[in-house]
Amino acid sequence: MIIVTGATGQLGRGIVEGLLRRLPASHIGVSVRNPEAAADLAALGVTVRRGDFADAASLRSAFEGVSRLLLISSNSSGADAVAHHRTAIEAARAAGAQRIVYTSQMGSSLTSPFGPMPDHAATEATLATCGVPFTSLRNGFYAASGLMLLGNALASGELLAPADGPVAWTAHADLAEVAAMALTGDELDGITRPLTARATVDLAGIAAVASEVSGKPIRRVVVSDEAFVAGLVARGVPEARAGFMIGMFGAMRNGAFAALDPTLERMLGRAPLSVHDVLKAKMAG
Ligand SMILES: NC(=O)c1ccc[n+]([C@@H]2O[C@H](COP(=O)([O-])OP(=O)(O)OC[C@H]3O[C@@H](n4cnc5c(N)ncnc54)[C@H](OP(=O)(O)O)[C@@H]3O)[C@@H](O)[C@H]2O)c1
Repeated sequence: MIIVTGATGQLGRGIVEGLLRRLPASHIGVSVRNPEAAADLAALGVTVRRGDFADAASLRSAFEGVSRLLLISSNSSGADAVAHHRTAIEAARAAGAQRIVYTSQMGSSLTSPFGPMPDHAATEATLATCGVPFTSLRNGFYAASGLMLLGNALASGELLAPADGPVAWTAHADLAEVAAMALTGDELDGITRPLTARATVDLAGIAAVASEVSGKPIRRVVVSDEAFVAGLVARGVPEARAGFMIGMFGAMRNGAFAALDPTLERMLGRAPLSVHDVLKAKMAG
């Protein structure tokens, strides 16, 4: 049975839907913190079990009978995230998994200023030595995250943020489709090439796309890192979260998310969705 963790989240849900298009529901299981949130999947015949990355015993029973595991990266950060992933990898190995597919991100690096990148790099090192064949999907930066950086720009007409850099924004739907392929085929092995859409777009480009889709003028305004942090903290955002954001802009400026690669397009057999497509769909729905 292929078991998907994080199936109550956006990417994991899309991966399960991709599996359901390829396999009978009886071949699919999910490991989720709250089984009630996956009741609709249970109704389709998907096996639903409780599994929490912070509770090794729960994973041991959630992963029983696993053939391949989709390990969604935890939305914790730092040592907690790395420990969550290590616990899940060990549980998958003990349960006899023949492949672990992990959702990493392009820009994964022990020295990145953006917190999740060292977490991914540490997890990839664990995968490389765990003794189980693995696929680490180096997902492009979610287009949905890029659109979140618009903040209230649609209302204010200004996209205020620190200096940024080009980013290969990529749609959840496309990344989910390729993850389902990685779980049902053998084409992707080890650390993948970056899985990206066709073009990079910086925040000035996101402002332009949002202007075009909304019909409202939006100006990109660059503020200093310090002014940005002060603005966030004044609005009640915890300092750690503000620091996380600054790390992200630093990694963007370093070009961590700038590479373009044809692997995603080749796997999908069509052009990946662009940030423009994602914004249009969001504003329509
Ligand atoms: N590539 C990128 O640009 C990018 C951007 C942002 C995040 N990410 C990473 O990609 C992951 C998936 O993205 P997404 O959009 O699907 O995020 P999401 O909608 O927030 O889903 C995260 C999933 O992880 C599960 N989870 C969190 N902590 C867990 C734990 N301790 N044990 C078991 N499950 C746990 C959540 O379960 P619950 O439903 O129970 O909370 C949820 O199902 C994120 O978690 C993050 O690591 C990548």
